[in-house]
Amino acid sequence: MTRILAINGSYRDDGITDQAVTTVVQAAQTAGAEVEVIRLREYPIEFCLNCRECTQQPGTAPGQCVQHDGMTDLLDRIEVADAFILASPTNFGSATALFKRFMERLIVYAYWPWAMHAPQLRKAGEPRKKAVLITSCAAPAILGRWAYGTRKQLQMTAKTIGAEPVGSLSMGMIAKQSHPVLPARAMKRAQALGRKLAGE
Ligand SMILES: Cc1cc2nc3c(=O)[nH]c(=O)nc-3n(C[C@H](O)[C@H](O)[C@H](O)COP(=O)(O)O)c2cc1C
Repeated sequence: MTRILAINGSYRDDGITDQAVTTVVQAAQTAGAEVEVIRLREYPIEFCLNCRECTQQPGTAPGQCVQHDGMTDLLDRIEVADAFILASPTNFGSATALFKRFMERLIVYAYWPWAMHAPQLRKAGEPRKKAVLITSCAAPAILGRWAYGTRKQLQMTAKTIGAEPVGSLSMGMIAKQSHPVLPARAMKRAQALGRKLAGE
């Protein structure tokens, strides 16, 4: 059975990002996957301190962070997952600060001793897990995909944790209502992505 971990960087309960994640999750569950959802807004994660203590030792397992918070537990969940749903709205042209805070803590997945010029991703030589990327923005989706950093940041997150995107959902023009409803086309795409992630 495929074990899927969804990591959602939206601030809002039942906003468009939550709705899209829920739709992918339900489709994956129906297709037989086991899914766990992490809403970063409910998760106790501190900011990265840029101390790079966690990057000094070699190996494929995540390095040891000096902080003791929810990230320890989240890393355990990432390690055992077979596939991921990574989601974030676009705020000021980027993934949310909530998502970025989580993303920066993923430096544990880099081997980067002080003498080395650039980091080496610990999972670079390992078989890739699957990931689905979900973004949302007020601008048209096509503009959001190419003009904003959000999608690139989700791609970078997937690569860092050893995953390869197998599909994405970019939702645009959805910020004109206080309680937006997932458009039918986005729902269909989200369902297809859920099935794909579950291996159907
Ligand atoms: C602080 C803030 C910044 C935003 N910046 C952008 C932006 O740069 N470009 C854009 O198209 N939409 C922007 N938006 C709109 C959000 O991307 C949109 O409302 C969001 O995708 C809704 O996600 P949610 O329903 O999951 O909260 C911004 C919204 C807020 C509140």
